[in-house]
Amino acid sequence: MPDAVPPPPGQPFPGNPSPENMGAPVARIDGRLKVTGQARYPADTPLHNLAHGVMVTSTIARGRIRSLDTTAAASVPGVLLVLTRDQAQGQLTAPKFGTGGSTSIQPLNEERIWHDGQTVAIVVAETPEVAREAADLVAITYDHDTPSAGFDASGVEIVDGAGASPMYPEDPKAGDFDTAFKAAPVVLDATYNTAAQHHNPMELFSTTAEWNDGQLTVYEPSQFVAGWRAQLAKQLDMDAANIRVVSEYIGGAFGSKGPMTPRTAAVALAAKLVKRPVRCVCARAQGYTTATFRAETRQRIRMGAGRDGKIRAFSHEGWELTSRPDDYVVGGTETTARLYAYGAVHTKVQLVKADRNTPGYMRSPPETPYVFGLECAMDEMAEKLGLDPVEFRRVNDTQADPVSGKRYTSRSLMRCYDEAAAAFGWQRRLDAGVWKTGAMREGDWLVGLGCATAVYPTQVAPCAARVRLTADGKALLQTSAHEIGTGVRTVAAQTAAQALGLSVEDVTVEMGDSALPAGPVAGGSVSTASVCSAVLKACGAIRDKLYRAATVNSGPPATPESFTLRDGMAVLDSGRSAPLSALLQKLGTTQLEEYAEFAPEGSAPGAVEQLRQGNPGIMGGAKGPVLMYAFGAEFVEVRVHARTGEIRVPRMVGAFAAGRIMNPRTARSQLMGGMIWGLGAALHEMTEIDPRHARTVNRDLQDYLLPVNADVEGVEVILVPETDTEVNPAGVKGLGELGNVGTSSAIASAIYHATGRRLRDIPMRLDTLL
Ligand code: MOS
Repeated sequence: MPDAVPPPPGQPFPGNPSPENMGAPVARIDGRLKVTGQARYPADTPLHNLAHGVMVTSTIARGRIRSLDTTAAASVPGVLLVLTRDQAQGQLTAPKFGTGGSTSIQPLNEERIWHDGQTVAIVVAETPEVAREAADLVAITYDHDTPSAGFDASGVEIVDGAGASPMYPEDPKAGDFDTAFKAAPVVLDATYNTAAQHHNPMELFSTTAEWNDGQLTVYEPSQFVAGWRAQLAKQLDMDAANIRVVSEYIGGAFGSKGPMTPRTAAVALAAKLVKRPVRCVCARAQGYTTATFRAETRQRIRMGAGRDGKIRAFSHEGWELTSRPDDYVVGGTETTARLYAYGAVHTKVQLVKADRNTPGYMRSPPETPYVFGLECAMDEMAEKLGLDPVEFRRVNDTQADPVSGKRYTSRSLMRCYDEAAAAFGWQRRLDAGVWKTGAMREGDWLVGLGCATAVYPTQVAPCAARVRLTADGKALLQTSAHEIGTGVRTVAAQTAAQALGLSVEDVTVEMGDSALPAGPVAGGSVSTASVCSAVLKACGAIRDKLYRAATVNSGPPATPESFTLRDGMAVLDSGRSAPLSALLQKLGTTQLEEYAEFAPEGSAPGAVEQLRQGNPGIMGGAKGPVLMYAFGAEFVEVRVHARTGEIRVPRMVGAFAAGRIMNPRTARSQLMGGMIWGLGAALHEMTEIDPRHARTVNRDLQDYLLPVNADVEGVEVILVPETDTEVNPAGVKGLGELGNVGTSSAIASAIYHATGRRLRDIPMRLDTLL
């Protein structure tokens, strides 16, 4: 694998042959803190007189609490509180679903059990051990109902996905699908299934709450502290001004820490009742039911094409699992309906409501499952047409949306295919006979090659930032936005450093605190584009002031073009320069501070104020007057053991075009991590639900399979240069959720090439090949 040894700071990054529209490959400024354990996660926050909470969760998925006896629990020495529905009464307001809470259920208000592992009580004690012992002594009896566990259970309810959430307003449609499909000479009709998955961040879910004179501070890993403050204000009926949410470093999130779960307000209430700070760290198993998850989907795809390889009709129907109370929808047809030049388009998304907890965002929530279905279908269709699957995509490539006619601001999909194909050696498959399966056998190993498209909407959100430049040539940058592991803290520092002519080390970045200027949710891959756009604006205002200072009373004025900031100096033109300190002195100050608000084009007025109210205000993708998407092409080699069915993936090559690449090193890490995630989705990850009891079976890292180092043999990332000045002022498309899209279908395609077996359900494990 490349990149084992990072280059010294400032040196070019190996494997980055094209620096066009790419920033410097600076190592993460928080990297050392993270790998040495010095980065403090919220549950590490030292607090005086801390008490410890442990959740008690339901052992049934559907029914009612008949009795809940806390006598034994409360009598354990050291127990301070057993918080149940009785104590919570009237003090917790459940959110309306879709307004920033992960579910409309506040379990401590409920007598009803909606899902397995629903919180029924929180025990607070002097130590975690005492709390755990007491939690085991809470005696609960239930009235059971028979739960519906998933798609094939009786008793599920099916509702339309379109309109269920602002995230998916309608099913995209164009032309007359039925007629075009009937008339097409080559057709496909296939059904695909994707499994439920859980995020499993290394850092456990936790909440720490502390009250001081009516002021609440919550320390919790979060992707959206600005929104959570507003959310807590609603759920605790408080003024948001009295709430602070802190989440400086996070040990993995992937969407699971985006919407606030009901635990946060409940722990805050517990701390209020015991009049001490309370910390509640969920057990790994509890994370499976008290946090969110990626729901399973089922998809039917019908496609009709002419003998020329042009698709004339495309239908994508999806079924997504959700909970009884909440219509959680991802609606990936929003993206798949626009991906190729189809002709007629028909889509429909339906929600299947079962007795499960409410699903939530997980890395590329709509695209991961739906593009799996589409790209598998593309591979099958290419075979029916006898076309190279790369050529089939080329024949149906488009620069405009087949549904609305809107153009893509930029779309470098085929360039990604060409670069990845060349680096991967796709020609080997063409030479072996592109549709000849089992042609590349090596001993007991059946070798196959496959490919698929990666795509993710380019989204951007409102963001505020404050930048302070001091006379010593240092800068402080503040925004409540989040470093969830993508490198945005580093990229923000690079952006400010470049704009102000400083070195990256001279920029300090403060993030992840709701007391800072409001930043966006670290979701939808918006952070880099949004934060950098706000930072550029604040730095631009500082630069303007310096320029004015430099050009007042100093001979012939420098032109704005000749005025640059470099190495802590202001360069007026070729002959003159001045240290920043001199300019500040001229302005009669020791520091310049600018607060800037960035709102995406087309945002409603007051977008940053709305952000403070908890509305993320995400724009982009297919929502605006033009389509904004990032693209990639992924190629994989698989080896399937002829006798055991063992599936190995020795090589993955991905080429991605995502506008300006702020930092090729962090970008590469994101894309590589994404492809590995895609490998996990293809071969490993699946949350197993017991169909009789609707309970999660594999709720730990032993039984929930994830790819480990031994599963990941070679990953190569190619950054394809692309310039797009329309998407946002930073020119950034965002790529945190791009790399894992399509990977699983590339692997399915390669498995077919190796074995002649079409697998349409993920994960694909060896038992499916036996
Ligand atoms: Mo990401 S799943 O949009 O937090």
